[in-house]
Amino acid sequence: MSGPYTLCKATLADAPALRALHRVAFAGLAGAHYTADQIEGFFTEVETVDPDLVADGTYWLIELGGLPVASGGWTMRPPGYAPAAQAPGTATILAVFTDPGHARRGLARRIMDRIEADAVVLGQADRIDLCATLSGLPLYLALGYRPVEARSLKLASGAYFPAIAMTKTVWPPFEADSPVIPAFRASAA
Ligand SMILES: CC(C)(COP(=O)(O)OP(=O)(O)OC[C@H]1O[C@@H](n2cnc3c(N)ncnc32)[C@H](O)[C@@H]1OP(=O)(O)O)[C@@H](O)C(=O)NCCC(=O)NCCS
Repeated sequence: MSGPYTLCKATLADAPALRALHRVAFAGLAGAHYTADQIEGFFTEVETVDPDLVADGTYWLIELGGLPVASGGWTMRPPGYAPAAQAPGTATILAVFTDPGHARRGLARRIMDRIEADAVVLGQADRIDLCATLSGLPLYLALGYRPVEARSLKLASGAYFPAIAMTKTVWPPFEADSPVIPAFRASAA
C-alpha cells in the first residue's frame, strides 16, 4: 500500500501500535547490524514510547489507513541514557522508526524535518543530539549529524547493544527583525 500518508502527534492511545511498529521496524531493517538476541534484549529493557514526549505533544507519527507506519520525537529534557549534565539549548531526538514495508519513501526524513523544526522554534534548541542505532546511522549522516562517540547499552543477558552518539548544530530561522550586519561599503576615499 502507498500514500496518502498523514503526519500527526501521537497520543497515549497510539502506544500499543507504536510499540508494535518499533519491533517490526527493528526486526525488518536492523537485522544486518544486530542479532535477534540483541534486538529482543533491547525491546525488553527499553521503552521506546516515552510517555513524557507523548504528553508534551512532541512525539509524531505518520499514519496510513489508521495505523502508524513511521514515528519519531524530540525533547528538551535530558534523555535517560545521557549524562546528567546537558548543555543548555540541547534538544534530543528519540525513537525514529519506519515500517519496513514503507522504507526509503522519505517518511523518516519527513518526521525529522518536523521534529527538528519544532526543536528549534518551540524548544529554542541550538543543538540537537541523538543516539543512533547502527541501522539509523545512514539516515542521520544524510541529515547532517556527525558522530561524536561510540556507546554501548549493556543488556541483562551480558550482551552489548552498540550505538553512536551524534550531534548537529542548528540555527533559528531568519526573522525580518534579525540583527542587521552592516554591509561592507567601498571606501569613498
Ligand atoms: C532508520 C530508518 C528510520 C530510516 O527510515 P526511512 O523512512 O526508510 O528513511 P528515509 O526514506 O526518510 O531516508 C532518508 C535518507 O536517509 C538515508 N537512508 C535511510 N535508510 C538508509 C539505508 N538503509 N541505507 C542507506 N541510506 C539510508 C538515505 O540518504 C535516504 O535518502 P534517499 O532514500 O533519498 O537516498 C529505518 O530504516 C528504520 O526504522 N530502521 C530500524 C530502526 C532504527 O534503527 N531506527 C533508528 C533509531 S536511532
